Amino acid sequence: MRSHYCGEVNTAHIDQTVEFSGWVNRRRDHGGVIFIDLRDRSGLVQVVYDPDLPDVFAIAEQVRNEFVVRVKGRVRARPEGTVNPDLPTGEVEVLGLELEILNRAETPPFQLDDDDTSEELRLRYRYVDLRRPVMQERIMLRAQTTRALRRYLDDQGFLDIETPMLTRATPEGARDYLVPSRVHAGKFFALPQSPQLFKQLLMMSGMDRYYQIVRCFRDEDLRADRQPEFTQLDLEMSFMSEDEIMNLMEGMIRNLFDSVLGVQLPDPFPRMSYEESMCRFGSDRPDLRCPLELIDIADLMDGVEFKVFAGPAKDPKGRVVAMRVPNGSTLSRKDIDEYTKFVGIYGAKGLAYVKVNDVAQGREGLQSPILKFLTDAAIDGIMQRTGAQNGDLIFFGADKQTIVNEAIGALRVKVGNDLNLMEGEWKPLWVVDFPMFEWDEGEGRWQALHHPFTAPKADQLDQLQSAPGECLSRAYDMVLNGTEVGGGSIRIHQQEVQEKVLHLLGIEEQEAQEKFGFLLNALKFGCPPHGGLAFGLDRLVMLMCGASSIRDVMAFPKTQSASCLLTQAPSEVSQGQLRELHLRVRTPQAAEKKAEA
Ligand code: AMO
Ligand code: AMP
Repeated sequence: MRSHYCGEVNTAHIDQTVEFSGWVNRRRDHGGVIFIDLRDRSGLVQVVYDPDLPDVFAIAEQVRNEFVVRVKGRVRARPEGTVNPDLPTGEVEVLGLELEILNRAETPPFQLDDDDTSEELRLRYRYVDLRRPVMQERIMLRAQTTRALRRYLDDQGFLDIETPMLTRATPEGARDYLVPSRVHAGKFFALPQSPQLFKQLLMMSGMDRYYQIVRCFRDEDLRADRQPEFTQLDLEMSFMSEDEIMNLMEGMIRNLFDSVLGVQLPDPFPRMSYEESMCRFGSDRPDLRCPLELIDIADLMDGVEFKVFAGPAKDPKGRVVAMRVPNGSTLSRKDIDEYTKFVGIYGAKGLAYVKVNDVAQGREGLQSPILKFLTDAAIDGIMQRTGAQNGDLIFFGADKQTIVNEAIGALRVKVGNDLNLMEGEWKPLWVVDFPMFEWDEGEGRWQALHHPFTAPKADQLDQLQSAPGECLSRAYDMVLNGTEVGGGSIRIHQQEVQEKVLHLLGIEEQEAQEKFGFLLNALKFGCPPHGGLAFGLDRLVMLMCGASSIRDVMAFPKTQSASCLLTQAPSEVSQGQLRELHLRVRTPQAAEKKAEA
């Protein structure tokens, strides 16, 4: 039904007869002439209907926006002065000779060229939303991305292997989506949070190099970069060190950016330890485009009168930092109040600051509500350590380490964006040397920072028991512009080590056998050293096309409250279906009533 795509025609086609099929983007009546902007996935072309051809003209009068039509016509140069330089086909137009309405359309629920349509409406009518050129470009870029990744991995000898969707829980730290079994009353499958255990088993099977572009399911609190079902590029390799894995993987990402975006990423990617990253940026996924850094000043503060600083300075779990903002003294009282509210989201109780008017004058050259609490020595120390210059502003954070890191770490990126301090377009890095475990205050036990199958550094096996908090793991995360795009590790391939780690995590033998006995068993039957990682494909594509949410790079995403507005899922099911699955629903209201009775 076509000879060309709409976006393909140009001056080389002048005088040719062409045929298109597509949607009416817009119909305009211009003094007896009708213009139709015809759209398909390749772009737009202008078709002109002349009253001198009364039969076709009569059909052109009937068409409306979003009608689906087939057009036949002759390409001609646009008259002088009507060339549209913004449109790839803008030098030509098509004189319409035939027009067939293939299907009519009701007035669309929103205007396709309106950028302010609510996301709710867009998601409810996603099929219309996806017609918008910006969405078409994103979905196409996603397809180009998976194509480039597959090509690279196929060339490197990786095998694409599928793993089950109906399976047992994999411990990635989120809640599971469960599927009740009809055949086995009272039993449930879990949808995979990742194919972690299966890909390790595939290494034990001798598959050597595995990859899969795979859906993962996690029932967790959603954010702009988190969805209940999302896609990983999941990989696992045998007989490779972490350096070899990281080199191969950054090669893949460089190749991807080059082939899809024409962007040259650094070679090699810089690497930074977890400790350095937390210390300088308050985060294990630092946005290196932002030049601002956190500077520890606890040692300058432990003697001062100001309790807000002195308290955390003396507390081993506390942290006191300064962050110098070059030329930040232009910030108004109101701006600073806004930032104070912003850090409050992360639990910070305030946001002290010092405006630097004239460094040379010492205390007299500064402006701040907290100066009166600080000694001259403390003030000098802060000025020197931050390298403060006239016109700067210094923010302070003092609290528990976690609060300071989260609050000032987030403030760093926000101020960097607000004041246009961001440098460079793409700043990837590897974060390495993660701790094996972190102490969970709430639960009063150690948790795996990555997952329980991550190997400890070889020289630290002995410390697993004696000083778990100091053990480092063989994990690595790839971070791009402040987003964790991928993460993985060398795995434990020795059963004794795996048992030790599970024991430390408080997962006792019986529970371990029950949950992943199959993996522990497999470790006994010839398991090669192996490791791998998984990339968040949605996040990667989101960054590549400059979208602000992963929802914008998924064809059919869910809302923030984990529902699908298009299909109205999740939905209730019939009593019959429930009975078959051996389930009875306990709605919150019913449960409440029962409790009251
Ligand atoms: P991890 O849990 O770090 O590792 O996940 C890997 C990558 O997946 C992306 N990601 C998400 N993307 C969208 N929505 C979500 N809810 C979501 N959760 C995670 C992130 C993350 O870097 N099995 C391990 C990998 C391994 O060790 O090989 C795993 O799943 O970009
Ligand atoms: P206050 O003595 O509570 O009025 O605080 C004096 C200044 O210190 C104000 O500018 C507060 O915003 C700031 N401040 C209070 N608590 C903290 C904190 N935990 N970290 C950084 N600044 C704080």
